Amino acid sequence: MSDIQNKIEQLLNEVNTTPIQDASALETFRIKFLGSKNCLKPLFTELKNVPNEDKKKVGLQINELKNAAQTVFDKFKDQLSNETVDKEEIDFSRPGEPNTIGARHPISVIRKEIISIFERIGYGVSEGPEVEDDWHNFSALNFPEEHPARDMQDTFFVEAGDEEMALRTHTSSVQVRVMENSKPPIRTISPGRVYRNEAISARAHCFFHQVEGLFIDKDVSFADLKQTILFFAQEMFGKKTQIRLRPSYFPFTEPSAEVDVSCTICSGKGCNVCKYTGWLEILGCGMIDPNVLEAANIDPKEYSGFAFGMGIERIAQLKFRVNDLRLYSENDVRFLKQFKSAF
Ligand code: DAH
Repeated sequence: MSDIQNKIEQLLNEVNTTPIQDASALETFRIKFLGSKNCLKPLFTELKNVPNEDKKKVGLQINELKNAAQTVFDKFKDQLSNETVDKEEIDFSRPGEPNTIGARHPISVIRKEIISIFERIGYGVSEGPEVEDDWHNFSALNFPEEHPARDMQDTFFVEAGDEEMALRTHTSSVQVRVMENSKPPIRTISPGRVYRNEAISARAHCFFHQVEGLFIDKDVSFADLKQTILFFAQEMFGKKTQIRLRPSYFPFTEPSAEVDVSCTICSGKGCNVCKYTGWLEILGCGMIDPNVLEAANIDPKEYSGFAFGMGIERIAQLKFRVNDLRLYSENDVRFLKQFKSAF
């Protein structure tokens, strides 16, 4: 047997007998037989000096040695990793870790409750974009050119190519989109987020949530509006709740009104929540101005309708007695986890 074949045999013997009990022994083995400077490399150099007739045979023997080293390495690697899993003693008698169940955000709770109340009287839900054009947020809603609501102070304007866009200041913009895209009879509510350029305080925020309501059909009257709002108020705040309407002004409704509900705390007797008036304001509403119907290609001689808009935070304030608006968007878990609800 030639010198090189002796070496091969010796190394093969070593490969098969080296004790490998742990990860570091395995690493030493890997470096020696499989690493970038492994001990098989000189054999390949020596192979050049082997007489031609033996080259093929010796070459095969070196390859077999290499394969044997790889097989031993793979076997021990497998074995050691299984042992590590076994060593991590799993104590099946340990009590499980409880999963804390989250709660819905109070704004979601109220939004769902409002949707559910109106669904019961046949209203569908519609949505529109938060980045809105002037037409849908203002012009189609009969806002005069010089109306203060278009002012820089109130509206966040957005640069979007040539067209000036704005973050919608109310969800009334969705009512325009619905009127443009569907034919009466229309019965829909549109919940969504709105934005106003206001300094953040306990009583004002630069974004909040509204629900817009829209009902258009033949012969819709103010009495229908009143009854719808009364139904909503009693479902939301209790069967004994009363409403009162005060004349008001909105560009998109005529006549317009603001609606108060009897105080949910003192039932109208007078307390500090209602500032001793017995009433709490909840929404704005009115009969849709004929100009608004016309702007959406609905014939005001054939159809009439009403609209209303309410702030979700406002309803949440009255239901949950949380008066600081900032709490609704700070995401403090201590605050959020208090709202457990069927909705
Ligand atoms: N868009 C009004 C606001 O943001 C709320 C409102 C009032 C909506 C009267 C209406 C309405 O549809 O009829 O203050």
